[in-house]
Amino acid sequence: MRLDKYLADMNAGTRSELKRDIRKGLVTVGGSVVKDPGRNVEPLTETVCYRGRKIEYETYVYYMLNKPAGVISATEDKRMQTVVDLLPEERRRDIFPVGRLDKDTEGLLLITNDGELAHRLLSPKYHVDKKYFARIRGRVTDEDVIAFARGIPLMDFTCMPADLVIERSGEISEVTVIIREGKFHQIKRMFEAVDKEVIYLKRLEMGSLILDPELAPGEFRRLTEEELRSLSALAGLSPGSGARQE
Ligand code: URA
Repeated sequence: MRLDKYLADMNAGTRSELKRDIRKGLVTVGGSVVKDPGRNVEPLTETVCYRGRKIEYETYVYYMLNKPAGVISATEDKRMQTVVDLLPEERRRDIFPVGRLDKDTEGLLLITNDGELAHRLLSPKYHVDKKYFARIRGRVTDEDVIAFARGIPLMDFTCMPADLVIERSGEISEVTVIIREGKFHQIKRMFEAVDKEVIYLKRLEMGSLILDPELAPGEFRRLTEEELRSLSALAGLSPGSGARQE
């Protein structure tokens, strides 16, 4: 990898600032000053310092995004804005959303380049709980709570038992729902099965990860070490390993 790209990937500065500073002699590789921004660096074995500070190469990155409505859960699209487009360009390398939220759904989305963690969090084997807040057209009843707990039969499969909690019941009801799978339009289809319509949907939690209330729709931040540790433990991995532990 080029030296200027290595530093830019680690958010040390913009590519042009970094090129200038490398030429000025502010960067060392393995203890020696390197003035060529195009010098090839081996991220895992060589030590790079910029202005006297060691810059370690992070192979894996993990972001919590509060997905706004109107953006699709994909990496790129010719016509529509994607969740990856919401991150600054220099952070977009190889990252993808872990699972999908519908275009009109808001809330918690993990974005990473750690394929192993993503695979495990999405695998039916790990049954990672997903908690949603929903606004429903129609009066949600105790019968619905029971039907959700039994497992709602849909056209192609029967849902695993889901926890439906009625926060407010009326012509427009407010509920929280915890599901254990993540099938296409699952929550919307579950409510359709009991003759109701989801008019607003927001994901609040995925496994141990809880949407940060400080993040406005469209905002993101890196996961904290503790968040990454808990999520990795849930998936039987060590944090940032991207590798199997079993
Ligand atoms: N269920 C849905 O219907 N839509 C989502 O975006 C997520 C879960």
